[in-house]
Amino acid sequence: MVDDARPATVLGGKHLVLGVTGSIAAYKAVGLLRALRAQGATVSVVMTRGATKFMPPLTFEVLSGHRVVTDLFEAQDAMPHLTMAEEADAVLVAPATANFLAKAALGLADDVLTTMLLNVRCPVIVAPAMDGDMWTHPTVIQHVDTLRARGVVVLDPEVGPLASGRVAQGRLPTEAKILEAAHAAVLSPADWQGQRVLVSAGPTQEPLDPVRFLSNRSSGKMGYAIAEAVRDRGGEVVLVTGPCAVPPPSGVTIVPVNTASEMADALSHHFSSCTVLIMAAAVADFRPRVTAVEKLKKQGKSEMELVLEATPDILAMLSARRTSQVVVGFAAETEDLLSHAKDKLKGKGLDLIVANDVKQAGGGFGSDDNAAVILSATGEQRVCGLMAKRQLADEILNAVRDLCLMAPRGASLVE
Ligand code: C5P
Repeated sequence: MVDDARPATVLGGKHLVLGVTGSIAAYKAVGLLRALRAQGATVSVVMTRGATKFMPPLTFEVLSGHRVVTDLFEAQDAMPHLTMAEEADAVLVAPATANFLAKAALGLADDVLTTMLLNVRCPVIVAPAMDGDMWTHPTVIQHVDTLRARGVVVLDPEVGPLASGRVAQGRLPTEAKILEAAHAAVLSPADWQGQRVLVSAGPTQEPLDPVRFLSNRSSGKMGYAIAEAVRDRGGEVVLVTGPCAVPPPSGVTIVPVNTASEMADALSHHFSSCTVLIMAAAVADFRPRVTAVEKLKKQGKSEMELVLEATPDILAMLSARRTSQVVVGFAAETEDLLSHAKDKLKGKGLDLIVANDVKQAGGGFGSDDNAAVILSATGEQRVCGLMAKRQLADEILNAVRDLCLMAPRGASLVE
């Protein structure tokens, strides 16, 4: 499905190269090509020999309006690997096989697509499709890591039924996700390269006894979307995450924690080596003063009192300790959104705060969407209406980039 909410002009006038490799999902590249063309992009298609076994080049030729290049030695243009690379605003490889990932990671150049990649200087987006066991094979994981470290956007395949009949992670990412990555690449290619970003996500769990805990409704989706966006925009990510039901993004360093105190330790450990801290976790403000060693018993009681003590305010503590790091917090509120957010921005000494009304319909905890107002210490305000959490993550990164990383430092920064 094409994401109609996006302006059709993002890809308008852009020149894209669509690389198609030999996966059964090659037929889905036809829909992708049509969607890219519908959004105004000029598309040149390159197919590997394997891809031509699944789909005839003529289909792509007719729909793209250009000759499809399949062979380095038989192309009309004597050097298609150079001309296409020079003209491209972005290269999309969809579907990408495990064989393609390996060749691209190692720099092999035995066909037009991989030879062209060595000449490309524009953003490259790769949408893998393969069987689940292949995607999780250590060799494939290593090649994906290599490509991501080099700034290539490798999307995660979807979980679902595969050609083999199995249900696993390996389906070609949805057209909407590939288009979203194409938009992001064209709008902001690898603008977070060189940044090492510490992201916290999810809830904390504060134990009452060995089987019970106090927690909150945070799903971790917002923090995970931020980690994913930093990764896709070329940055390095350390993700400190509380227990979440959704799987964390691949291609980032994951540090799992349970309690606020464990989260404080993990973040303190990584803080000094990072350039930006984005604190999206919903950390418990209070924890039981005493954790019972054995399971608490009812013992005929009709009520029970819990004594709670405050947890450390991790954000305020790290903000006070920073040297040159940019520090971003969240304010999840149910009332007086802006005034509470402004108090936290000032009180915790932050550069930016992302204020969101968690009672708003369609947004907040657990939802795939969110709306927020981003406030800076220097008084700027960016309002983001209800949008996908991944899109909001990109808006947050844009704000951090524009207001903190590129602009002169705000008043809140410690000298
Ligand atoms: O004060 P409040 O908890 O509403 O502030 C929210 C911000 O502070 C979030 O960014 C959250 O991750 C962070 N926080 C923290 N340590 C706590 C509580 C919240 O770092 N104990």
